[in-house]
Formats: sequence, structure tokens, C-alpha cells
Amino acid sequence: MAPRKKPFIAGNWKMHTTRAEARALVGEIVRASRALAEAEFVVIPPYTALAEAAETIAGSPVALGGQNLFWEDKGAYTGEISGPMLADAGCDFVLVGHSERRQDFGETDETVKKRIAAALRSRLRPIVCIGETLAERESGRTWDILGTQMAGGLDGLDEASFRRIVLAYEPVWAIGTGRTATPAQAEETQAFIRRQLEDKYGKEASSCAIILYGGSVKPANAYALFRERNIDGFLVGGASLEAASFIEIAAEAIKAFKEVK
Ligand code: PGA
Repeated sequence: MAPRKKPFIAGNWKMHTTRAEARALVGEIVRASRALAEAEFVVIPPYTALAEAAETIAGSPVALGGQNLFWEDKGAYTGEISGPMLADAGCDFVLVGHSERRQDFGETDETVKKRIAAALRSRLRPIVCIGETLAERESGRTWDILGTQMAGGLDGLDEASFRRIVLAYEPVWAIGTGRTATPAQAEETQAFIRRQLEDKYGKEASSCAIILYGGSVKPANAYALFRERNIDGFLVGGASLEAASFIEIAAEAIKAFKEVK
């Protein structure tokens, strides 16, 4: 039986929000989070709004994350941002290997592995994203792809380090498309991921692992998804840009959590 884990609700704002918009959005989330203490919240704004977000979450249970990091801590790497910089900006988390980074910016399992190591060096908790494309799913390669992404990204990661990471299963065909995985599809895949983790890190560590689902999560589907046993939370894109929908997703997850977990 997996341990009881609070719903983990992360909002990935991608390339959206000015500083003023970020301040307003985080402010609303902070206010709502007080009444939703059963959930853990993470906001992941663009780099330019991290300072505003850090000020606004101060003293609240809402945590801050970066959207990416480079694997060196400093140096002549124009345009990059490092783990120490994110930690200094107030981040506790950082996304690694988002499918948009994999597809559009050449991210590979090898660079995911290097970024995970860099994040951990800076005491950041990486939220490591994996997921198959539609073509991969339709050609029956989902398990191979996820197995390869996990084996490559987590290569050499010891158990103590593994316990610091969060995994996010995000089928690429569900991201930003409005086409969510059905609860059964998501559960089948998340259970597969947990079994892989169990092979590598043992039953206890794998059952403690937080495995998020991401891809067109909305208030309307959050409850049914969260009822599934192996879904520990959500990585939300589009619906995290409106405080009301982000908060409602958390409220739906809490409702399912109280009923079945
Ligand atoms: P979406 O994005 O919720 O807009 O589908 C999810 C993500 O990319 O993390």
C-alpha cells in the first residue's frame, strides 16, 4: 500500500506573465492556499518573474520552481541559468526535461541526467518530465520510450538522491492539446513508471516517490484523474495561468484524496 501523499500541484507558466501579472497570480494562489492546506503548491514562473513571485510567496506554504537550468554552476554560457542562481532566487524546485525542451531545444536523456545532478548539487528538487509522443504511443512503443527516458535520465542516481526528485508523466500528445489521457490510460502508465522505479530503488522508495500527471489537466478532469492510485499530483500548464482554475484543480484533487487515498 502506497503511503498517503498530499496532492502535489505544480503550475508551469511557460513563457507567460509579466512581472505584474505574476505578482497578481501568485498573490491569489497564496491567498487560496491557506484554505487548501491538504495540497502542496509549486509555482513555476518565467525567470524574469522569479523575484516578484519569491517576494509574494514569502511566509506562505507555496513553493517556487524554475523552468530549466544549465548543468554547470557558472561560467561563459550566455543565456543560461544555473542551479545556484535559481536557489538564490528562492527556488526549491526546477523542471528538467520538459517535452518542449526535448522537442524544441535538443534536450536528451544525457542532458537530463546532467541537469538532475546540477539541481541536486544546488539543493533544488528536480521535477523530471518524461512522456511519449502520439506516434510512439500509436506504434506501441510507450513502455520502451518511458523505460529509456528513465534509464537514461536517472542513470547513476543513488537512492538518497532519487528520494529528492519528483517525476512527471506528460504524454506529449496531451500537452496543450486539450486531449487529456483518460484516467485509466494515465494510471496504467503511471503504474508502469512506479514498477520501473521499484525495480531500481525497491518497494519502499518507489511507493514514496511522487509521480505527477501532466497534459491538459483542468478542473473538469482533475477529480477523476486524482482518484487513480498512482497519480500523486499534477503538472499544470494552460490551466495554471488563471488562479481560479489552478485553485479548483487543487480543490478537486483534495476531494479525491480525502475519498480514496
Ligand atoms: P498543459 O501543459 O496543461 O497546458 O497541457 C502541461 C505541461 O506542459 O506541463
